[in-house]
Amino acid sequence: MSINKLMVKDVRNLASITLSPSPSINILYGLNGSGKTSVLEAIHLLGLARSFRSAKLKPVVRHGQDKSTVFAQVEAGKGRVLPVGVSRDLNAESFQVRVAGETLKSTAELAHLLPLQIINPDTFKLLEGSPKQRRQFLDWGVFHVKHHDFLPLWKRAQKALKQRNSLLRHGKIKGSSSLAAQLPAWDQELVRAAESVDQLRQEYFKQLLPVFQDVLSELTSLSDIEINYYRGWDRERSLADVLQENVSKDIQSGYTLSGPQRADLRVKVGRTSAVDILSRGQSKLVVCALKLAQGHLYSRISGKKCIFLVDDLPSELDGPHRKGMCRLLEKMKTQVFITCVEAGALNDCWQPDTDLRMFHVKQGTVNLESGREIRQTELAGDRA
Ligand SMILES: Nc1ncnc2c1ncn2[C@@H]1O[C@H](COP(=O)(O)OP(=O)(O)OP(=O)(O)O)[C@@H](O)[C@H]1O
Ligand SMILES: [Mg+2]
Repeated sequence: MSINKLMVKDVRNLASITLSPSPSINILYGLNGSGKTSVLEAIHLLGLARSFRSAKLKPVVRHGQDKSTVFAQVEAGKGRVLPVGVSRDLNAESFQVRVAGETLKSTAELAHLLPLQIINPDTFKLLEGSPKQRRQFLDWGVFHVKHHDFLPLWKRAQKALKQRNSLLRHGKIKGSSSLAAQLPAWDQELVRAAESVDQLRQEYFKQLLPVFQDVLSELTSLSDIEINYYRGWDRERSLADVLQENVSKDIQSGYTLSGPQRADLRVKVGRTSAVDILSRGQSKLVVCALKLAQGHLYSRISGKKCIFLVDDLPSELDGPHRKGMCRLLEKMKTQVFITCVEAGALNDCWQPDTDLRMFHVKQGTVNLESGREIRQTELAGDRA
């Protein structure tokens, strides 16, 4: 899976750009505010019909315009090229996705068609943030390798949970007898879906862990990193028992305290939580290793590749670790879009035979550079 032509219209400061990326490594460099992250954001719009920077559409659409459009030709394997177009209109709630002339109704289908992995400053939230970030990370993997099984089960669990929570809240007001009558049906539905979701998550995590350890050891000498999967309720007991036992606590809180909505990945160094002990650079390496491991596993299981979007790769990393990251990205033989400020920041990080394309981003325009080696002095032209 790779993009061989990308056209972006009215995303942030990109009025209208066209580029023909390499199927391997693409570097977008330019000064702060030139539009590098916006190019990645446009690719994200193409893959998921939404931005990774803003939950709202308005900040994404170029000022003064009312819609953003991204179009691409996607190499879908076996010589098939699919035209994919996504447009988001400020005046319409929904999005428009066209693939090979057909309209797609769901973003899940789009995500399945164009799997993306993003590494950006927000990715740190994987370690620092709430369990939700780590659940989303885990579910990306389960969704992409068990697409047909996972999504319906996950939706069933969500629906049962929503109904159960609403019942808990209303039951508190109406009294316990109506609650006691209705709760078992939703418990049963939640338990069935939750146990299957947990099973799929567990299977996926078991496969991911050794890949992560391999990637991490290639990237850094950090040892002692341990990751455990917590399913959201006691390992020793069934969810049915836990729900029954905790029912009065659940009524008190007005929501369900245990279940797959509380699942988490616990990352530790020895016995201490990783977030309390790792430096910024070390955290970045661990997070990168997790993302790269997912990419590897995805291609091993599905036989397809996902596209990597890496925003500001050099930041926080010293020379040897930058090289290590580049080497691993290169080895994945997948399409990668990397942004950096300085053109020369990743100059000596690539094999001579890698199809490397450098794009200079300047005030919302994107131009392909002819040579591989970009001299630092070229950036002086930006500042003028
Ligand atoms: N809706 C919008 N319409 C027009 N311009 C916008 C809009 N939103 C943001 N911008 C501007 O777009 C420019 C590009 O932002 P972007 O984040 O892509 O820059 P960047 O090259 O990634 O910079 P940095 O190196 O600082 O990360 C910025 O100057 C920003 O002020
Ligand atoms: Mg940026």
